[in-house]
Amino acid sequence: MDEDEAATPYAARERFWRGRDVAFTPLEPDDAELIHSWRADPVAAHEMGVWPGSLHEFRERIEAHVEDRDRDDFLVLLPDGTPVGHIALMAEDLVDGTAEAYLLLAAGHRRRGLGADALAALTDLAFGELGLHRVEAVTHTDNTAALATLSRAGFVHEGVRRSSCLHRGRRHDNAILGLLRAEWEALERPRSWEH
Ligand SMILES: CC(C)(COP(=O)(O)OP(=O)(O)OC[C@H]1O[C@@H](n2cnc3c(N)ncnc32)[C@H](O)[C@@H]1OP(=O)(O)O)[C@@H](O)C(=O)NCCC(=O)NCCS
Repeated sequence: MDEDEAATPYAARERFWRGRDVAFTPLEPDDAELIHSWRADPVAAHEMGVWPGSLHEFRERIEAHVEDRDRDDFLVLLPDGTPVGHIALMAEDLVDGTAEAYLLLAAGHRRRGLGADALAALTDLAFGELGLHRVEAVTHTDNTAALATLSRAGFVHEGVRRSSCLHRGRRHDNAILGLLRAEWEALERPRSWEH
């Protein structure tokens, strides 16, 4: 183990998949506390519609995710092993070839290009490894950061699910975005396996 690896307890974790600057390690139940703290950030709580649940309940949910066959969850790591986010493909349907993308970055690591990098790597995994045909994303229509990040990764705005969630006393619209295999194939950027 070199000095950088010793710098963080996450450095020794297996890096299953890589982006340009980030790597993915499979999520473990012991990561629950870290992610629970990220979800408490007001932006995350607002954009993800997070309930103020207990760590105990959240850990049980992470344990269930780890068991689920229809989702793949990862911690996003920097090269020195610093964990910066939680990313996932949810509701994977290998018959229809569809899944939904999920991404939450820790507040202190936003606006540095890591979200776009992680999302590109996730779509490379979906299309280049799992053989999916379509990846969908759903976010509030006023979540500028998510909309820009999804657009940068090639996602196309498909429509609006009007008044589909209640948060802080008012109804919000959700935007539906999708990336199809052919659109991913047309993207001119290096793929995860080229980093
Ligand atoms: C959405 C999120 C993942 C974006 O990650 P990020 O690392 O901050 O985004 P990046 O730095 O990679 O920026 C990607 C693009 O989004 C833009 N962007 C990022 N944050 C922005 C903000 N707050 N306002 C406006 N634009 C923003 C960047 O300028 C960049 O645009 P470009 O492609 O034109 O250069 C992050 O803000 C986050 O975790 N938010 C809370 C959870 C959430 O909303 N998740 C999405 C639910 S689907």
